[in-house]
Amino acid sequence: MSFTKPERVINEGDTVILYITINNMHAIEVKSHTTNKHGQKVEYVHQTAYGALKVQSLIGKEYGTKIHLPKGYAFILQMNPELWTMSLPHRTQILYTPDISMILMQLEIQPSSVIIEAGTGSGSLSHYFLRAIYGKGHLYTFDFHESRVDQAREEFQKHGFGNFVTAQHRDVVSDGFTDDLNGKADAIFLDLPAPYKAIDHVVKALKPSGGRFCAFSPCIEQTQETCLQLEKYGFLEIHTIEILQSEHIVREKNIPVMDLSFVKQKREDTESKLPKRDEKRPQLPTRKILTTLNTPIQQGHTGYLTFATFLRI
Ligand SMILES: C[S@@+](CC[C@H](N)C(=O)[O-])C[C@H]1O[C@@H](n2cnc3c(N)ncnc32)[C@H](O)[C@@H]1O
Repeated sequence: MSFTKPERVINEGDTVILYITINNMHAIEVKSHTTNKHGQKVEYVHQTAYGALKVQSLIGKEYGTKIHLPKGYAFILQMNPELWTMSLPHRTQILYTPDISMILMQLEIQPSSVIIEAGTGSGSLSHYFLRAIYGKGHLYTFDFHESRVDQAREEFQKHGFGNFVTAQHRDVVSDGFTDDLNGKADAIFLDLPAPYKAIDHVVKALKPSGGRFCAFSPCIEQTQETCLQLEKYGFLEIHTIEILQSEHIVREKNIPVMDLSFVKQKREDTESKLPKRDEKRPQLPTRKILTTLNTPIQQGHTGYLTFATFLRI
């Protein structure tokens, strides 16, 4: 299966999206049989709020097809990193598309990039890195939780990324990254409870000619500590941002139009026209304009993103 190029037909082994609504999507591996909790091989039937689906019936159908379920319908969509993030099995907290978009841009990820990531977690971010570097680059991803690494490795393989990723079980704070990566990484991304404890390892692994770094931390105290460490190791362009979404509502509004014709007249003339203290002010004419209103700041804090450049001069 492919996360990177459009496919026409669903094949056995593909992971597809069963799209019911934007808030009701299921990631399903297309196979005829599965193993039940008693260890027996049984026909694979996927349950939804609209009834059961015999998964095997999807094989050979075109992506985008409308599927009839006993009590409604759904669409079968081809998987991509965005849909995977919305439907993947959570083993940890994950990163979402708004933060990820900024990370990809700020880390200057290109098809040939060599990227280091820790921790792998549920592999949400990893899939975007892999799509971006597919074909030429490589992702080295580390996590000290062994079963998370095993599960992520299996998913990368199934999703067609196996040749472009090395997933390893490792504590990157105590042991750093592997020695073969010294001076090789174009970009390093850390989503760890204490990223500041790994900055010495980051320095070893980043390319000295301008490697980019990013740490994601939910709390400002972690971010402050990371910035101090980055400064200590001579990183440049250290800056922290937070991605907050703000809604703009498009509305028609009546705005008063000022009558400036008096500017042309003599000053005394103008003054005599001004309303006296208790006099009712004349109603200004109004004009309808199309404008946008900002809603108050919405809750949406995920974390702080700290970026920096490593340049050994
Ligand atoms: C929040 S999750 C990462 C989520 C990931 N960014 C995603 O989008 O799915 C943090 C991961 O860091 C791992 N971790 C924490 N400390 C670590 C360390 N010292 N070395 C390696 N991995 C570590 C945890 O096991 C966990 O899986």
